[in-house]
Amino acid sequence: MSEELTKVTHVDNVRLGDDERSVVIIDQTQLPNRTVYLTLRTKEEMFDAIKLLRVRGAPAIGICAAYCMYALARQIDTDDYTYFVSAFHSIKEYLNSSRPTAVNLSWALNRMEKVLEQGENDEDLGDVLELLGKECRAIHQEDIAMCRAISEYGLSLLQDGDGILTHCNAGPLATSRYGTALGPLFLGKEQGKEFHVFSDETRPLLQGARLTSYELQKAGIDVTLICDNMASIVMKNGWINACLVGCDRIAANGDAANKIGTSGVAILAKHYGIPFYVLGPTSTIDMNCKTGDDIEIELRDPEEIKNKFYAEPQALAEVKCYNPAFDVTDHSLITAIVTEKGICRAPFTESLAALFPEQQ
Ligand code: MRU
Repeated sequence: MSEELTKVTHVDNVRLGDDERSVVIIDQTQLPNRTVYLTLRTKEEMFDAIKLLRVRGAPAIGICAAYCMYALARQIDTDDYTYFVSAFHSIKEYLNSSRPTAVNLSWALNRMEKVLEQGENDEDLGDVLELLGKECRAIHQEDIAMCRAISEYGLSLLQDGDGILTHCNAGPLATSRYGTALGPLFLGKEQGKEFHVFSDETRPLLQGARLTSYELQKAGIDVTLICDNMASIVMKNGWINACLVGCDRIAANGDAANKIGTSGVAILAKHYGIPFYVLGPTSTIDMNCKTGDDIEIELRDPEEIKNKFYAEPQALAEVKCYNPAFDVTDHSLITAIVTEKGICRAPFTESLAALFPEQQ
C-alpha cells in the first residue's frame, strides 16, 4: 500500500489522551486548511466538540463519546460506588444530548454504562475503570474491523473504472480507518482499481468539499468536486454508475437518515436507473425505530447557511431559515444496505432483522 494512501486511511482522528483523562481529536472544522489536534479535557469541551462538528460522522462520534465517557469517569472523585454510578449517568446524559440523529452516540454511551451493571455496591472502582477502559478501546477496535468488512462488501458491488457519486463524508475521518461509503474506494485503490468519484460539496457545512474531496485527493483517487445541485447533470451525462452514501440511523424498515440532501440524490438515482447504496455498521441500525418517521432530525443554527463560510453575510439577517442537518431516504429508493455482516436487500424489514437474531 502506498504511503500517501495509508496516511489517509489510517488517520489518527480520535484517541484517548496519554493521561487517560482526556481525548485527542483532529478538529475537522479546520480541514482542509489546517490539521489541528485538540485535547478535550472537560465535559463541556467534549460536548462542544461533538455539537460543533469538530468531531463528526456517526461512527467517529460514537468512538469519541466512549473515550470521553471513560476519561470523565476517571475524573469522578469518589470511593463510593453509588455516587460514582449516579455521576457517571448524569455525564452520560449530558454527552448524549449533544446531537440527536446519529444513533452511534447513544449506542456507544449505553455500552459504556452497561459495564457498570457488572459492578456491585462494594465494587472496587479501580476495577470498574479498567473495564471501562477496555470497553471504549473495544468499541474503537470493532469499528476498525467493521469498516474493513463494509469496504470489502461494498467493493464487491463495483466494477473497476466506475463513476461514483457520494454525498457528505463517510471516510476515515468520520469513522476509523477506510470509512464506510468511501471504504470501497480506498480498498479498491489499494488493489489497483481506478474509480472516478464525484463529491457533492454538501451544503451548508461543506463536509464533501472540505473532507471528502480532501481525503480522496490526498489518497490519489480521481475526484471531482461538484455543488449539490449538480448531481442531476453528472448522472444525466452518464458519468455515475453507483451512489455510495453513509448513514446516521437506519430504521427497522430500511429508511435511512443521512446528511441533508441524501434523499434528493436517491430520488435522482432512481430516475436515472443508478444503484443507490447505503453503507454503515450495524451500530447505526436502530431496530427501536420502526420507520424513518421515528428518527429525530437535528435542526441547526441558521448562521451556518447565511454566514459561516462567507466573507460577509449572503442573506439578510432577518430572513427566516430552515436548517435541518439530515433527511431520511425512503427504503424504496435504496438498492442495498451494506453492513459489516453482509449486504441487505429488500424486503429490509426481514434482511435487517436477520442481522440481529438475538432480538427476535
Ligand atoms: O453532520 P455530520 O457531518 O456528522 O453528518 C455526517 C453524515 O451524514 C455521514 O454521512 C454519516 O454520519 C456517516 S459517517 C460514516
